[in-house]
Amino acid sequence: MRKALKQLKYFSSTMDSYFPIISTIIKNRRNIKPVMMNGKRIPDEHVNSLLELADWAPTHGYTEPWRFTVYANPAEFCHQHAELYKQNTAPNDFVEGIYGNLYNQGNEASHVILVNMKRGNLPKIPAIEEIEATSCAIQNILLGATALGIASYWGTGGMIQKQAMKDFLQLGEDDHIAGVIYLGYADEHPAGNRTVPLEEKIRWIK
Ligand SMILES: Cc1cc2nc3c(=O)[nH]c(=O)nc-3n(C[C@H](O)[C@H](O)[C@H](O)COP(=O)(O)O)c2cc1C
Repeated sequence: MRKALKQLKYFSSTMDSYFPIISTIIKNRRNIKPVMMNGKRIPDEHVNSLLELADWAPTHGYTEPWRFTVYANPAEFCHQHAELYKQNTAPNDFVEGIYGNLYNQGNEASHVILVNMKRGNLPKIPAIEEIEATSCAIQNILLGATALGIASYWGTGGMIQKQAMKDFLQLGEDDHIAGVIYLGYADEHPAGNRTVPLEEKIRWIK
């Protein structure tokens, strides 16, 4: 308890100096498409450090519902992703270009992380809250990556949120795939953009 209080005092006295750092990281995080990555490898230890940050996401009832499947070889996942698309698409709807895009999506990435919410057994915690907590875990990864100069991409396209992917990952009926994260390095950093003015999103009550 004494140690916790001491830490709290430390953080409150240094808060001002951390704010510009975290502000810069948050504002500079960008969703960077895997094709923009340059093929350079991220050390596995850095990926592990990002997963450690993910584990510090807020969690209602300590359900800690975030789960990660990490591919150190993105091609292994991408080829599987493309196959799932082929196997689960009627021949008339199948588009060779989509197959090719999924197959090659990770060619220039370093790691791929599939993130899912594993539904806990605390009925008082609604499933949406476990999805929210998992999204916070993802944001921790993206921000940590930005701080390490790693480009990141959060995607939900292709087969990511389809039943076939859930089956592939052997997830339960109530589990949810929050997305796939591609990590790598990029030579260019896209500019950020917000379309709705912040004032329109805020209602201050004083
Ligand atoms: C739940 C969720 C799912 C997303 N899925 C995709 C996706 O499938 N493809 C994609 O290009 N971007 C996806 N994004 C990223 C957004 O496109 C991106 O955040 C948005 O363009 C704003 O850009 P920024 O993140 O660089 O500020 C997703 C973001 C969220 C929160």
